[in-house]
Amino acid sequence: MSPLDNVRILEFPKVCDPRGNLSFIEEAIHVPFAIKRVFYIYDVPGGASRGGHAHRRNRQVLICLNGSMDLHLTDGHTEKVITLNRAHNGVLIPPGVWDSMHNFSSGTVLLVVCSEYYDEDDYIRDYPRFLEYVEQNYFSS
Ligand code: TYD
Repeated sequence: MSPLDNVRILEFPKVCDPRGNLSFIEEAIHVPFAIKRVFYIYDVPGGASRGGHAHRRNRQVLICLNGSMDLHLTDGHTEKVITLNRAHNGVLIPPGVWDSMHNFSSGTVLLVVCSEYYDEDDYIRDYPRFLEYVEQNYFSS
């Protein structure tokens, strides 16, 4: 089974109000894991891309709080491209998926909610190494 099969679009609660909308995320309820870490990407210069790696254990949910960006996901065989531009939606990215983010609009703020603490050893940053990893761990019977 491809790790891409476990990518999910999540819909968070949205409390609409004339004063402005409010959304919230509770661990193990609106994201399917206990939250150990959040980080956010902002002030992305025009034309820059982020990501370009996969994780061995970390699960993460990406939420575009402001602006828009294109999320490219691949298992080494198939690519999915998802445009993120709604603060009440998230994309669940399981381990074993190579992600990269492109085409950031000016002022984009991307929030990432993670199942694991930061650990550089959890990253696969080399694409040929990623292809070997997914073949061994997901595609070989
Ligand atoms: P990185 O995950 O490579 O960013 P991107 O998703 O755009 O590829 O992280 C960039 C740098 O920030 C890297 O040196 C590691 C550091 N970092 C932390 O120290 N803690 C964190 O939680 C994250 C996500 C990154």
